[in-house]
Amino acid sequence: MLVLVLGATGGTGRLLVDHLLADGHAVRALVRDPEKGAPLAEAGVEVVPGDLTDPDLTALTDATRGVDVVAFCAGSGSATGKDQTLVVDLHGAVRTIDAAVEAGVARYVMLSSMAADDPWSSSEAMAPYLAAKHAADRILRAAPISWSVVRPGRLTDEPGTGEIRIGQPRIPEADRGERTIPRADVAAVLAACLTEPAAVGATFEVLSGTDPLAVAVAALTPTAP
Ligand SMILES: NC(=O)c1ccc[n+]([C@@H]2O[C@H](COP(=O)([O-])OP(=O)(O)OC[C@H]3O[C@@H](n4cnc5c(N)ncnc54)[C@H](OP(=O)(O)O)[C@@H]3O)[C@@H](O)[C@H]2O)c1
Repeated sequence: MLVLVLGATGGTGRLLVDHLLADGHAVRALVRDPEKGAPLAEAGVEVVPGDLTDPDLTALTDATRGVDVVAFCAGSGSATGKDQTLVVDLHGAVRTIDAAVEAGVARYVMLSSMAADDPWSSSEAMAPYLAAKHAADRILRAAPISWSVVRPGRLTDEPGTGEIRIGQPRIPEADRGERTIPRADVAAVLAACLTEPAAVGATFEVLSGTDPLAVAVAALTPTAP
């Protein structure tokens, strides 16, 4: 399969790229900084220049053409403001959904966030970000495309364990523990969602846990739209 990864130069995106290449998939990446794209190209990724906030949609449209799956791992990051949250996490994501539908892409896997179903359930500072994730998820779930929405807790750079806990629609408060998960495990979940039929139409929260990753993903069920 040819997979377009958005956010391939980021923490989780890069780990997903490595998974996909190891699994024998072809990977295309839309990258805004050529210097950051160079190591991806060396690894065998087709790197195309582009920015999700570019008023001109040509780069995104061209990057999406011929793709089997879109994986969204981009994000404005915690160091930017609400303006970037709006144009990257919300509008940027929506543009990639539109481009995927327009190009007839079969499948879209969204890296969202825990608590995106209720943006005010977290801190006031997090609400704009979670609201952006919430809206993008809803637009994806209503789109004419096969989708999965993956909602992890706080991401860490610890090594992956291959053991997770999934909650549909949410992980109960008492079972949330540290509310963290290594990016490596999230990347493995995203990679599993590409090919696991049970992940189609599923929205779910995911944290570190004790369930084998492949077993937990295979036990997913479709979410009511
Ligand atoms: N951090 C957390 O605790 C947490 C928790 C739950 C969910 N998430 C979500 O998980 C995803 C991955 O998070 P992460 O921390 O691993 O990512 P990250 O390291 O912050 O990387 C973000 C990626 O998005 C790209 N990007 C940002 N703005 C862009 C734009 N305008 N056009 C194109 N690409 C753009 C970045 O490109 P550059 O390399 O050029 O900057 C980078 O590749 C994000 O969607 C995030 O919202 C994060």
